[in-house]
Amino acid sequence: MRSPGGALLRASIALALVAGCADGGPPPAPAHVSIDVRGTPEQRRAAGAGLYAKYCALCHAESATGYAADHAPSLVSRTFLESASNDFLARSIRNGRPATAMAGYGTSRGGPLDEDDIAAILEFLRWPGPTAVPTPRTAVHGDAIRGEAVFSRACQPCHGTREQRGEFVHLGNSELLDTATDAFLRHAIVNGRPGTPMPSFAASLDDRAIADVVAFVRGPAASSGSSSAARASRSAVDIPTDLPIIINPNGARPSFTLREDRFVPADQVKAALDAGQRLVVLDARAPSDWLDSHIPGSLPAPYYDLTKLDVVPKDGTFIVAYCACPHHASGAVVDELRKRGFKQTAVLDEGILVWKQRGYAVVGTPPADGAAHGAPPATGSPRPRDL
Ligand code: HEC
Ligand code: HEC
Repeated sequence: MRSPGGALLRASIALALVAGCADGGPPPAPAHVSIDVRGTPEQRRAAGAGLYAKYCALCHAESATGYAADHAPSLVSRTFLESASNDFLARSIRNGRPATAMAGYGTSRGGPLDEDDIAAILEFLRWPGPTAVPTPRTAVHGDAIRGEAVFSRACQPCHGTREQRGEFVHLGNSELLDTATDAFLRHAIVNGRPGTPMPSFAASLDDRAIADVVAFVRGPAASSGSSSAARASRSAVDIPTDLPIIINPNGARPSFTLREDRFVPADQVKAALDAGQRLVVLDARAPSDWLDSHIPGSLPAPYYDLTKLDVVPKDGTFIVAYCACPHHASGAVVDELRKRGFKQTAVLDEGILVWKQRGYAVVGTPPADGAAHGAPPATGSPRPRDL
């Protein structure tokens, strides 16, 4: 963990700044981020702090120590920053972690951040913490079958299975596995993440068991072609500007029973849509997530751009907001609506990930390789070569 003084100072910078300071300009090739945008380091850091406060603090907390929503991990623990390269960080931000609350924020994925913005956020996250120590690129050779036994006993209770996220970071996520080296995975297992629930296994697992569990997390031998770098890139312009606002404008009003006057169960919303009832459904996530998959008829209304709510008519139509986290981003939208005097509003209680797990309808344009929706490709992920 970084010193509390540093975290506090960073938090106050984040609070003091208006977001969106970094301006555009031609983005460098997305492969390598070297943090060389214009301005002094202080200016870049300040721009990064503003962007971080606007887009990231909702889940990763103001000082980036994590766990404000959906168990979003710490972005500033020492053992994370020293093992995560700038490319690892930039790519995680650009592409997100499909099928988790972590959206892709890069413009190449339909998100709001260009490469300069991402570099500025890195500058903020890295200050004044450790720079990345290059971890060895050599593969860790273990036995995945033995590793599976270790994993289900020692890791699964927190991380879930390969296919399904548990409480914390999804280790089977295709984006993580495409990006992380074996050494990065090993570093986390050996050293833990001080200040977070991730323990160090240096004392409880020997070298062989750690190699085995890395081999299991890595999955079957590398295939080619599934790298998300090959995914279709796209931009926010792919979102139509003339989407209808009200679903079933001639339908009857739904009658929802809210929990705590705020949360509407997914099955009630599904029933209302099936019955052709009149509704507005707002997707509070970053628009890249909306592009990937969304509830049919929903409108993108990201938590960080509440001006999108200006178009919603105040005519008594019931408004449901949802996100993945599952309450924080949608909660910000509902709070704003209520502040503006909208009476009939609610947060989709379970969020869209559970909605999808239940097999309820979604539409969208998943990224090209189809690996974006949870399960890693059956053939495993290619081992990253140049991190
Ligand atoms: C809606 C909640 C949410 C928001 C907003 C969000 N994140 Fe995340 N982020 C997550 C979650 C959850 C994960 C872990 C995903 C998983 O389970 O695999 C994550 C993972 C990450 C990781 C990978 C960390 C690791 O240990 O591998 C990085 C880096 C990251 N986020 C940076 C950001 C940045 C920078 C922003 C703002 C531009 C941001 N996130 C906005 C929820 C969020
Ligand atoms: C008590 C819960 C818990 C257990 C048990 C646990 N982890 Fe973790 N693990 C976490 C949390 C929480 C994080 C994210 C920490 C942070 O905020 O940076 C994490 C992070 C990681 C990361 C880094 C992922 C990333 O993207 O940054 C790896 C790799 C990892 N754990 C592997 C394992 C393995 C392998 C085991 C079993 C040997 C294990 N963990 C057991 C809670 C746990």
